[in-house]
Amino acid sequence: MSAEPAAAASPNRPVLSVQDMSIQFKLPQGWITAVDRVSFDLRQGEVVGIVGESGSGKSQILLSLMGLLAGNGRCSGSAVFEGQQLLNRPPKELDAIRGSTMSMIFQDPMTSLNPYMRVSDQLTEVLTAHQGKSKAEALEVAIEMLERVRIPEARRRIRLYPHEFSGGMRQRVMIAMALLCRPEVLFADEPTTALDVTVQAQILELMAELARDMRTAVAIVTHDLGVIARLCDRVIVLYGGRIMEQGSLDEIFYDPKHPYTKGLLASTPRLDEKVHGELRTIPGQPRAAMGDFPGCPFEPRCALRIDRCRAEMPALLGDDKGRAVACHVSGV
Ligand SMILES: Nc1ncnc2c1ncn2[C@@H]1O[C@H](COP(=O)(O)OP(=O)(O)OP(=O)(O)O)[C@@H](O)[C@H]1O
Ligand SMILES: [Mg+2]
Repeated sequence: MSAEPAAAASPNRPVLSVQDMSIQFKLPQGWITAVDRVSFDLRQGEVVGIVGESGSGKSQILLSLMGLLAGNGRCSGSAVFEGQQLLNRPPKELDAIRGSTMSMIFQDPMTSLNPYMRVSDQLTEVLTAHQGKSKAEALEVAIEMLERVRIPEARRRIRLYPHEFSGGMRQRVMIAMALLCRPEVLFADEPTTALDVTVQAQILELMAELARDMRTAVAIVTHDLGVIARLCDRVIVLYGGRIMEQGSLDEIFYDPKHPYTKGLLASTPRLDEKVHGELRTIPGQPRAAMGDFPGCPFEPRCALRIDRCRAEMPALLGDDKGRAVACHVSGV
């Protein structure tokens, strides 16, 4: 997929606006910061990739936005969706938003699907609960959605239980469920890593295609730069709970500014051919504890570091088109 949609999507209004979101967890030794003052917008119809190595805070960002932060976690900042503040809302109020106008796809379909319920009941429940449809109406909408995610013989198969579907088909059911209520925003957390590469590519492309058709904004969290290259309009690069760089697909892939982004791209083979590229390691280790020091989290591994990087976290500075970099040495 080309990078064209970035330009097409940019005039659209933001459906979700995240400002200075931080997430901390309480451990026996005290609070640790997992996500540190992250800000970004998600615009109607665009697909944004959130990339970063394990532990960089990708999942926690999505989980907090969905109100699914662990019991020992706390979250500050602001996330405005359709004029409503999402962070720290009572679960009852969030329930009305979750599953109807905001939806999430998890890595393992069995996290979302109930193994003891027929797929038909699970899909229609979403529609009867959130949209007040009758059972019969809901069933027709659900069958149509299964057909859109290309499940053969949807009318018969909708009566089956999740375990009666193959892994790939279960992922399709999950995508159907997530898109049933035509959400404004869809979060996908490494949605296909459990599947083989060909099935992964088909499923993700299907998800992005349907989301674009419905003008749903999508945030995909992934380790896989190949996925980003094929599907995303914009990219957010996270490291140690901070945004290091963000920009359009072309800006990030062909004109990366941050040393971490450069390292990420350099260590991924044949990226220009848009093949699957798992993130390879950059020399050195991430810091064990995040956020408890004043400097840039990437400083210990950065070839370009200067004294200031250890003392002071650079601000994320950029233009009004969403291109931004947080680096004392290599800015926009
Ligand atoms: N309940 C918790 N208590 C303490 N620390 C937590 C908790 N949940 C997450 N963390 C920490 O928060 C940080 C960010 O985790 P997160 O799951 O967002 O990483 P990620 O970028 O999604 O990684 P991966 O690619 O491995 O899924 C990690 O250091 C993780 O250990
Ligand atoms: Mg994760």
